[in-house]
Amino acid sequence: MTDAITIFDTTLRDGEQSPGCSMNTQEKLQVAEALVELGVDVIEAGFPIASPGDFEAVQRIAQRFGDRTTICGLARCRTEDIDRAWEALKDAANVRIHIFLATSAIHREFKLKMGKEEIVRRAIEGVKRGKEYCDDIEFSPEDAARTELDFLCEVVEKAIDAGATTVNIPDTVGYATPAQYRKVFEHLRANVPNIGKAVLSTHCHNDLGLAVANSLAAVEGGARQIECTINGLGERAGNAALEEIVMALRTRADYYGVETKINTPRLYPTSHLVSGITGMKVQRNKAIVGQNAFAHEAGIHQHGMLQERTTYEIMRPEDVGYVGNNLVLGKHSGRHAFRDRIKQLNLSIDEDTFARVFDDFISLADKKKEVYDSDIVALVENRIGETSDRWQIVGFHTSAGTGLVPTATVQLKDDKGEVHCDAATGDGPIDAVFNTLERIIGIEARLDDFQVRSVSRGKDALGEVTVAISALGRTYHGKGVSTDIIEAGCRAYLKALNAAEADRQANRPAQPAVVPQGV
Ligand code: KIV
Ligand code: ZN
Repeated sequence: MTDAITIFDTTLRDGEQSPGCSMNTQEKLQVAEALVELGVDVIEAGFPIASPGDFEAVQRIAQRFGDRTTICGLARCRTEDIDRAWEALKDAANVRIHIFLATSAIHREFKLKMGKEEIVRRAIEGVKRGKEYCDDIEFSPEDAARTELDFLCEVVEKAIDAGATTVNIPDTVGYATPAQYRKVFEHLRANVPNIGKAVLSTHCHNDLGLAVANSLAAVEGGARQIECTINGLGERAGNAALEEIVMALRTRADYYGVETKINTPRLYPTSHLVSGITGMKVQRNKAIVGQNAFAHEAGIHQHGMLQERTTYEIMRPEDVGYVGNNLVLGKHSGRHAFRDRIKQLNLSIDEDTFARVFDDFISLADKKKEVYDSDIVALVENRIGETSDRWQIVGFHTSAGTGLVPTATVQLKDDKGEVHCDAATGDGPIDAVFNTLERIIGIEARLDDFQVRSVSRGKDALGEVTVAISALGRTYHGKGVSTDIIEAGCRAYLKALNAAEADRQANRPAQPAVVPQGV
């Protein structure tokens, strides 16, 4: 018999809270859909009282996916937060309210200015308030890992008595170490009389690079829910990475003796999606989802692999949906073979997008000797969502060189089919293109980040540009690919401006600079 572990994904709440990673509602819905397909048990969709945008996103995720998984909303231990969370969640069939209140001495004294008794009283009141709305209530004593063990036991016991069905033990500042954190769970299980009435949960931050190790230690100590994010996204050094935890539990099932319901071949595509939307790149050598995670360069490894994979491979790339540099189809491959390949790569696109991607594939295969799986993924990502964008590229031209003023002319088509053309200069051809796009669309933006990478290898490889821009008081991201790096930049910038345009059309207010903290 193996125990089931609940995977609680907080990419859309704790992950999104990290600077520069904010997502609009449409993007959050896309990530939520990927999380549902990945098979997570709980999606923490946001912090409804934080802003009207957060509220709207939680509500829409609850309405759309609340019958397929549990949708959770965060609330401080305050009546107005809890009421607001319920308001956003109430349409979902499976709902959880997550209530938090700090308990450590340092938070009590400096942030909350409250004594222990008041903390306990408020925790009880908060859980009872949540319980008036739904049965599934999670309580988090924030900064639990730095809370005196006796007091932590008292708060946990009272929260469970008040009706908490999950008790989370957050290592809010990433201070814990594995053996010590494991002992906290063992201590709670040995000293809280009603502990059997709730699920114990772990929530780790990665400030010391120990978030995954601490989460796994918590499982050894008795935790049966793990809170984590895709790619370890999250404030500062991030949260515990979902993909690493899931694959550690699966690969070492012999040791942990627990299982999750995660559909592991969806890990790589989900990681890609989140990285594309947030603009937060995955480091090449990142475990499980990094580009090099399954690359065996050393001769001795390659030799071993050819004899028997398991000599140097503890997981199969296909188990995590890894897309490498497999050589794929050539320019004579037909539509049918191309569609099959898209299916094998676990990519789902509508017919309209398929037609565009197929045309891109044919013209890429004309320019480039070898087309790889990673090229196909990039071509698909380049076109996804494009049909709902207001502005589409018709064409562009640049001129630049030593002694010349870099100039760009761009033609865009709007959603009514009308073509708009303008020109501008810049301090290079890419800057000139960006300035022209802003002139046509009528949105001023600041470029905060610009990154270029090659999708596969060779001089004829596809180039991928990712940008982050600030416009209309928010951050937007965009990604574009092409064998022409100026075109890739143009597509990336246009993608980000299209996201800003969608917010402008919907009259969405600028994001509040600060997420409410504390009680
Ligand atoms: O890190 C933390 O303490 C949190 C809580 C809100 C659970 O994110
Ligand atoms: Zn956190």
